[in-house]
Amino acid sequence: MNSLTQIIAIDGPAGAGKSTVARKVAEAMNFAFLDTGAMYRAATWWALEQRIDLDDPVALAEATRSMQLDLNEEEGVLRVRVNGHDITDAIRTPEVTRQIYRLDQNAQVREHLVELQRVFGGRGPTVAEGRDMGTVVFPKARCKVFLDASLDERTRRRAAELAAKGVAIDLDALKAEIHERDEKTRTRAVAPLRRADDAALVDTTRLTIEQAVDAIVHLARTRL
Ligand code: DC
Repeated sequence: MNSLTQIIAIDGPAGAGKSTVARKVAEAMNFAFLDTGAMYRAATWWALEQRIDLDDPVALAEATRSMQLDLNEEEGVLRVRVNGHDITDAIRTPEVTRQIYRLDQNAQVREHLVELQRVFGGRGPTVAEGRDMGTVVFPKARCKVFLDASLDERTRRRAAELAAKGVAIDLDALKAEIHERDEKTRTRAVAPLRRADDAALVDTTRLTIEQAVDAIVHLARTRL
């Protein structure tokens, strides 16, 4: 059996619960976990750090290719390092989140990161989550899931996460920001977010994390 058939591809918009759910599915199945959003975040952090002109697509692609990116699960935390420097927290700042769209629309940046993602997935059974896992990166994956939830519910979850970190939130502004980020991802020319034809839709609006995990594990057991 080709290792690509041992891929669980999970896509969906921001706040649908992808990271949490994908990590738990990986634990339950004893698969590796690949957070591809962390890769786009790391590339954005690196470009900002290197003071690359974000309007220069060629420079962005060169910068992305020049970074030594390392993702490693350590004690339940995905440690992200660039050139040996731990940027696990730094990639989650609002500044990085705001600027990602400049890189994630860049075809050459994507090409490079997609290559790294396929190498990762080729090493063994993997749960890969992002926006284009089922459509672009692992189109032959036998188990594909599109994880979604209503905009209100996704806003509520993000607000709770931010509140837990002590960040003050304006709910309407947060909702508008999530909506805007979704629209950018769904309408971009390269690798737009969409449900692959053969992906199962899992709507988590009224599901607990455990219920979503169970649904995907069940699906994976029948499809893989
Ligand atoms: O899942 P996340 O919020 O960490 O993702 C960060 C950004 O990266 C998100 O705005 C869209 C982009 N992304 C992408 O374009 N393709 C992926 N496979 C994963 C993330």
